[in-house]
Amino acid sequence: MQNKKMIFSGVQPTGCVTLGNYIGALKNWVKLQKEYQCIYSVVDMHSITVRQNPDELRERCRQFLALYIACGIDPKESILFFQSHVSAHAELSWILNCHTYIGELSRMTQFKDKSAKHEDNINAGLFTYPVLMASDILLYQTDLVPVGVDQKQHLELARDIAIRFNHLYGDTFTVPEGYIPPVGARVMSLQDPTSKMSKSDPNPNGYIWLLDAPEVITKKIKRAVTDSDGEIAYREGKDGINNLLSIYGAIVGKKPEEAVLEFEGQGYGILKTRVAEAVCEELRPIQEKYKEISADPSFLDSISKNGAEKAAEIAEKTLRLVQDKVGFMPR
Ligand code: TYM
Repeated sequence: MQNKKMIFSGVQPTGCVTLGNYIGALKNWVKLQKEYQCIYSVVDMHSITVRQNPDELRERCRQFLALYIACGIDPKESILFFQSHVSAHAELSWILNCHTYIGELSRMTQFKDKSAKHEDNINAGLFTYPVLMASDILLYQTDLVPVGVDQKQHLELARDIAIRFNHLYGDTFTVPEGYIPPVGARVMSLQDPTSKMSKSDPNPNGYIWLLDAPEVITKKIKRAVTDSDGEIAYREGKDGINNLLSIYGAIVGKKPEEAVLEFEGQGYGILKTRVAEAVCEELRPIQEKYKEISADPSFLDSISKNGAEKAAEIAEKTLRLVQDKVGFMPR
């Protein structure tokens, strides 16, 4: 473990895990886990920036953890845990809050979007959320952060905070790099292909849930919004078709520009059928494994308990170093 470079990433347990989360993040987490020491968290503390039903949140946390494993994260190789079980995240977050400027946080586009959506609850946590995300990453001296493109701005802030802290107090944090997949870094909504596929979309036809039944997946893809010119091409202005080609490409391991060649001269119906088949085929083993795992809650408990212990051990080392650097009294 000592010689491997570190990876940290997480998904917020809000809504449900979508095909966007899978293609943009989880699929790559699996791919990278042999080469790196990976730490993957269900970042529950982030999710309460928006009001949650407590029982549903607990239920979802379990579901997300089970899905991480079902997607292929091996708990023997990677550390899996619930963020709230490692208190160092909150502790480092306070210190980093004191090293982050309001101006920087005000520029975060996700804050602007979310505060527009939740006008009645623009809480301080929503505003300082990127600092908690920076803490998640920096606590583990992370080298690489596999995320979708929507997290790029947050990741850049984490880098800026690390560089600033290192400059002020001497080398403390590894400055992380992002790993953004070449295909599928921004899977778009099936109903509005100009906006990203989101797990909080009130219209379930806009996203594919990893646990959607094959007939539901097929129906959603068949209903996907396209355009009326009828030509299968990958180019600007063809958002719906571009999105379907990207989803297909990400799954079969082709660039969309290559994938499009398979569909020359065909109609949208064929494209949608093939995309639906590819998605169903990709998700079938995940769904089977999920069923197996979720039938054994004690297995999940032992994974998360063990994972939190391992994560805390690493995180606390960094936290103590940081506390010392800023001048807190030794224990
Ligand atoms: P979250 O929960 O919104 O999304 C989890 C991961 O899925 C990616 N993603 C997508 N990728 C492609 N297309 C999409 N439509 C799509 N939607 C989501 C996201 O980029 C992300 O990688 N703040 C983060 C969670 C987080 C985190 C961290 C990530 C908290 N701490 C530390 C990395 C490192 C978030 O809200 O992601």
